[in-house]
Amino acid sequence: MQTAWNLGRLILLATLWGCAAPSAVSERPSANATRPPDLGPFVPTPMPVVRKMLELAEVNGDDLVYDLGCGDGRIVIAAAKQYGARGVGIEYDLRLCEEARRRAEREGVSAFVEIRHQDIFESDFSDATVVMLYLLPASNKILQRRLRALRRGTRIVAHDYGIGDWKPLHTEVLWTRDAFQHTVSVWRVGE
Ligand SMILES: C[S@@+](CC[C@H](N)C(=O)[O-])C[C@H]1O[C@@H](n2cnc3c(N)ncnc32)[C@H](O)[C@@H]1O
Repeated sequence: MQTAWNLGRLILLATLWGCAAPSAVSERPSANATRPPDLGPFVPTPMPVVRKMLELAEVNGDDLVYDLGCGDGRIVIAAAKQYGARGVGIEYDLRLCEEARRRAEREGVSAFVEIRHQDIFESDFSDATVVMLYLLPASNKILQRRLRALRRGTRIVAHDYGIGDWKPLHTEVLWTRDAFQHTVSVWRVGE
């Protein structure tokens, strides 16, 4: 019920944002597209959920953590601050990119964090050791093929929505103080 409400929340926001509902997300931007396909509106992951995502990914100082659709950069910034990991945030909204860069600067981790103003479809995240996702379910599914091609052992952690029919290695459910339920799932490429 709560998960259905969370999904409704993202889809409603997507509609209000003036972007595509999941059924309208296509694998490639159309030749006429004036903007990249929306894979999910900006809904930030609450910090307790961010911490759980990093914990389940077992992030450490050797990791290169990507957040596909990084919003204000909070996940890659926390990975750098808490674990000394390097992070790359991919985000197509320039305003959010600028905000993420300012946050990284303010938190003293701008040397560890790169924010790329880019469409996820155009981005290369093949050197990731950890990939974070908080996108619409249809978007995760579209990315499935590229995620499968990552190096063996790469950890993938998703907030709320799964990745097609992949069975996670582990799932945890958290409640935040606003009474929302959040699901965090982890996979390892090749396992
Ligand atoms: C649900 S928010 C998640 C933000 C952040 N990852 C977090 O968990 O706090 C999804 C983000 O993906 C971005 N996004 C959606 N489609 C994208 C695309 N094709 N390329 C890059 N970013 C995209 C949105 O602008 C938004 O900031």
